[in-house]
Amino acid sequence: MAVEEIKIEDLNPHAFIEEQCRLISEEVGSSRAVNALSGGVDSSVTTMLAHRALGPGLLTYFIDNGLMREGEPESVVAGMRNLGVPVVSLDARNAFFSALKGKTDPEEKRQAITDTFYRTIFGTLVRESGAPYLLQGTIYTDVEETVAGIKRQHNILAQLGIDTEKAYGYKVIEPLIRLRKPGVRAVGKALGMPENMYKRPPFPGPALAARVIGEVTPERIALVRKATVVVEEELEGVGAFQFMAILHEDRVTGMRNGKREYGFQIEVRCWDSQDAVTAAPTRLAFDLLLKLAGRITSEVPGVVSVTYNITPKPPSTIEAL
Ligand code: XMP
Repeated sequence: MAVEEIKIEDLNPHAFIEEQCRLISEEVGSSRAVNALSGGVDSSVTTMLAHRALGPGLLTYFIDNGLMREGEPESVVAGMRNLGVPVVSLDARNAFFSALKGKTDPEEKRQAITDTFYRTIFGTLVRESGAPYLLQGTIYTDVEETVAGIKRQHNILAQLGIDTEKAYGYKVIEPLIRLRKPGVRAVGKALGMPENMYKRPPFPGPALAARVIGEVTPERIALVRKATVVVEEELEGVGAFQFMAILHEDRVTGMRNGKREYGFQIEVRCWDSQDAVTAAPTRLAFDLLLKLAGRITSEVPGVVSVTYNITPKPPSTIEAL
């Protein structure tokens, strides 16, 4: 199925909202739909659109995969409930960590997350709820990168020839698939969402698992989660497109309190970009970089090395996996 992009200059957000609400209502009819809310801009805008279209016919789930940032499960659920959308939070941490156990290859890790999400979790939810549709916030850039073979974005199915009805037992509805990020933000604004929701920096579906090189374990996620707190606190004010901490697989020799410490390495990335298709490293002040290194090595146990990535995309990509 070819997807045709709606360019930002051709987008009328209000007309788009009306049309998508109509299409969602027509497709779901008197049936019900399950909705996957992750808290990112794309899934939050999808949730608002579908809530407007279906009201109580929409069953919104937040899947706690154990891979989210500090306090994120609670704040995402509370934010949506404040907007009047009922959200059920589901603890799926064990399912995700078991699926990721022992996996080090980036595409195998992405596949494990996709399978757990669509087959194990949503397959069951759809069967139990009897709602034969899943709504999700796939956008044009996700399709483009997956089809080009750069990364298998966790949410791409039909464009890879996957028949979700056969594979998982439900149909997938993707109201944002023709938009890029700036278009999604414009729709969020037109839907009356709070600015901190529609302007939120992007965060990948595989969450912090996309930022752990090598095996993803609860301990390694806890480490990158702590480093992420520091990076987000320090970089939130610089106006960048996206910023992150990445945990490396290799360790290096460092020293602490006069003793050798064979410790962890954190890589910081901070990007200037319009739509994630290309990106340039932000020219952060050196003092800020030094502050980041100081805070990460003192606040995240076992980290003895902090680096800043200065490679543009391409040839880098935004996330490490
Ligand atoms: P990359 O790393 O491919 O990322 O340069 C481009 C943008 O997409 C986000 N990203 C993802 N989003 N599922 C998502 O929903 C994924 O599997 C995924 N991988 C990357 C990334 O954060 C960036 O904004």
